[in-house]
Amino acid sequence: MEFHILTVFPEMFASPLQASVLQRAQVRGLLRVYLHNIRDFTRDRHRVTDDYAYGGGPGMIMKPGPIVSGIQAVQERFGRAYVILLSPQGILLTQRLVKNLAQQERLLLICGRYGGVDARVQAYVDAEVSIGDYVLTGGELPALVVLDAVGRLLPNVLGDEHSVTEDSLFHGLLQGPVYTRPEEFAGMRVPAILRSGNHAAIAVWRRRQALLTTLRRRPELLPQAPLTPQDLATLQALQTQEALQEQATEHTS
Ligand SMILES: C[S@@+](CC[C@H](N)C(=O)[O-])C[C@H]1O[C@@H](n2cnc3c(N)ncnc32)[C@H](O)[C@@H]1O
Repeated sequence: MEFHILTVFPEMFASPLQASVLQRAQVRGLLRVYLHNIRDFTRDRHRVTDDYAYGGGPGMIMKPGPIVSGIQAVQERFGRAYVILLSPQGILLTQRLVKNLAQQERLLLICGRYGGVDARVQAYVDAEVSIGDYVLTGGELPALVVLDAVGRLLPNVLGDEHSVTEDSLFHGLLQGPVYTRPEEFAGMRVPAILRSGNHAAIAVWRRRQALLTTLRRRPELLPQAPLTPQDLATLQALQTQEALQEQATEHTS
C-alpha cells in the first residue's frame, strides 16, 4: 500500500518511519511512504504556503493553491489516491474507519498547520478525518496515527507474534487484561485459568473479560459490537453482577 503525505514539515516523519513495525514493513515492500513538501508546489520566490485570514483574526491560513497542486501532482504521477485532510472538524478516526482505509491502494494525507486550511481545499478531498476531540499544532502527528493504525492492519505487516484480531476494537470490544511473567508481582497473581493450559477455557475467560472491560469502561460500544447469543447471555449475567456489586458498595459506604 502507498501512503503519500503532503506536509510543510517532512522531517517530522523521519524517526517514526525508521523504527519498529513501520520500518520493517517498508523494508519488506509491504508499505511505501512518500513525503511531499507542500512548499515544492508553490509558485512564488519565497515558497509561501500560508496567508492572512479573510475577515481578520489571529493565525495564518494555509493557501489552497500549493495544496491542490500537490494533490494533483501526486495523482498524475502515481495514480488515483483516496485523499484525506487531517482536521479537528473531520469524522472521528475509529477502528472501523481504519479497516476501511486499509482496503485502499493509495492514501494521500494532507497535514494542515497554523489556523487551518483554506476551506476550498475540501472540494479536492474524499474525507476529512480527526484523530480526536482536541487540537494539535499540525496534521503531521495525526497523519502518523493514521499511517500506523492502517499500516499494522496490512497483510503480513505484523508477524505471527501478534494478531490484530485480538486487539481492542477489532471486533468491536475492548481487550480484557493481559499478563506476562512473573506469575506474582507486588502481591498480585496472574489468574489461575491463564496458567491452566486449557485453551478452550482460556478463550471463554478472555471473551468474558473483554465483555466486562467494555461494559465497565466503554458501554456505548456494546450496541454496535457483533455479539453472539452466548455473549448476550454473558453480558446479562455480568450486568446483574455489576448491579449487585454496586448495591453492596452503597450499603457499606
Ligand atoms: C492548529 S490546527 C488548526 C485548528 C483550527 N483553527 C480549528 O479550530 O479547526 C492546525 C492543523 O492541525 C491538524 N490537526 C489539529 N488537530 C487535529 C485533530 N484532532 N485531528 C486531525 N488533525 C488535526 C489539522 O491539519 C489542522 O489544520
